[in-house]
Amino acid sequence: MLLDRVKPLDAILATAESKSLKRTLGGFQLMLFGIGCIIGTGIFVLTAAGAQKAGPGLMLAFAIAGAVCIVAAFCYAEVAAMIPVAGSAYTYSYASVGEFLAWTVGWALILEYAVAASAVSVGWSGYFSGTILNEFLGIQLPAWLAAGPLALGGAPGGFINLPALVIAMLVTWLLMIGTSESAKVNAVLVAIKVTALTAFVALTLTSSEFDAANFNPFLPAGVFGGFGTGLGAVGAAATIFFAYVGFDAVSTAAEETKDPQRNVPFGLIGSLLFCTVFYILVAAGAIGTIGGQPIMGPGGIPFPAGSEELARQCALPEYSGALVCSNEALAHVLRAIGFSAIGNMIGVAAFLALPSVILVLIFAQTRIFFVMSRDGLLPEKLSTVHPRWKTPHIVTFLTGLVVAFGAAFLPVGVLADYANAGTLYAFFMVAVAVLVLRKKDPERHRAFRMPAAWIIAPLTIIGCLFLYLNLPIEAILVLPGWGILGLFVYFFYSRSRSHLGRGIVTVVDDIEGNEDMMPIDTPKS
Ligand code: ALA
Repeated sequence: MLLDRVKPLDAILATAESKSLKRTLGGFQLMLFGIGCIIGTGIFVLTAAGAQKAGPGLMLAFAIAGAVCIVAAFCYAEVAAMIPVAGSAYTYSYASVGEFLAWTVGWALILEYAVAASAVSVGWSGYFSGTILNEFLGIQLPAWLAAGPLALGGAPGGFINLPALVIAMLVTWLLMIGTSESAKVNAVLVAIKVTALTAFVALTLTSSEFDAANFNPFLPAGVFGGFGTGLGAVGAAATIFFAYVGFDAVSTAAEETKDPQRNVPFGLIGSLLFCTVFYILVAAGAIGTIGGQPIMGPGGIPFPAGSEELARQCALPEYSGALVCSNEALAHVLRAIGFSAIGNMIGVAAFLALPSVILVLIFAQTRIFFVMSRDGLLPEKLSTVHPRWKTPHIVTFLTGLVVAFGAAFLPVGVLADYANAGTLYAFFMVAVAVLVLRKKDPERHRAFRMPAAWIIAPLTIIGCLFLYLNLPIEAILVLPGWGILGLFVYFFYSRSRSHLGRGIVTVVDDIEGNEDMMPIDTPKS
């Protein structure tokens, strides 16, 4: 009974057909779009948290997380090219495993997008305070305005992260008035980020400070720190998985891609591989120069990243230069090895580029809410479109409030772990959707048909489950806790109001009068 409300694929595809966007994107453009969504707080900031969990094993962690994302990307590519309408994993699930599971996916996507946007806002705040305010303007933000409270994993003396709150609200406002980023702006931001990372890699790997001894011990917390500890190389992989989140946005451009069978995997896998290689080199450069051993607690076990104990240790003078304590890891490394000016440029690159990642994430969140509301599962009021701005301004504003609240009070590592829990569930369900659709609808045309589906999709399922179980226990528990809340909402509100449940098939593909569903306009011919 619970799994019987499956949205008919024919209705979805008829809607997609009626829109029929021109196929103008090539593999390289898709890859550029992917890199724009992917590179952000994960590499610029979480490198520190990753090192605290795994030490030099962070390099292995980037490889593990990258591998899970690459198999997941194949799954995304197949369903996105097959069901090219708004709503991402939520819509794919609705058409394959039905409304109930789709609801759980939509609910989990709130963790993926809204909480991730909070995390990126906090990451941005570190660079804004450290580079723009401190280095350039000589202003030291009072401790109580620079981070959330210590009890929540913030810094000693912290109360609220004002810059993070402000950037989240600013981006929300831009989205409310209908801002989208042109493909050109995206290309410029990608160039800025890639140049910054290239400079970092070149300077650190060739630096006279580079010392192979810094990689010893390579795995101070082991490969497996134990399920639920968030430690070891796989614990770090579960956290820095965040650095890859966002590639799923690329899959939504599949319908606009020329020769999707070739270009979609090229764009998705290309952008992920590119980032994986870069990330490993960045980790090698950071650790090789200033070292990246964790600060050990009792019993030789690293203090948990984002914990009150670690924050106290980091406040001690002996750890003031430690990689694992830095809020702006990459800029900090370059300053420490004598390249202050270039370190500051990296800070400026993060300052300029991270807001566009926040924009993509909040945008994706509002469109998921929008589609769920049009399906009758959330209040219809949420999908009201502003007459002039042509945006779902109410849901955008509410999303922005939630994002700003998380950004104001929680530390980046904790937010990233929570976001990862939701994202891993969504990836897991997308892999399930691929297999269900292959079974239920084997003959249906797939613009991109992934090779070896019965190997790659199960690998995705196992990989996601494995990373999920290696998150810290709080993050593991957030998903079922959040899920239970979601079930209450579903059974007491959504189920009886569902359009599909009432026999109405609604397929939302766009906001009327607003041609683009992407926050980054893709070029049209
Ligand atoms: N992957 C994106 C980032 O690291 C979310 O900021």
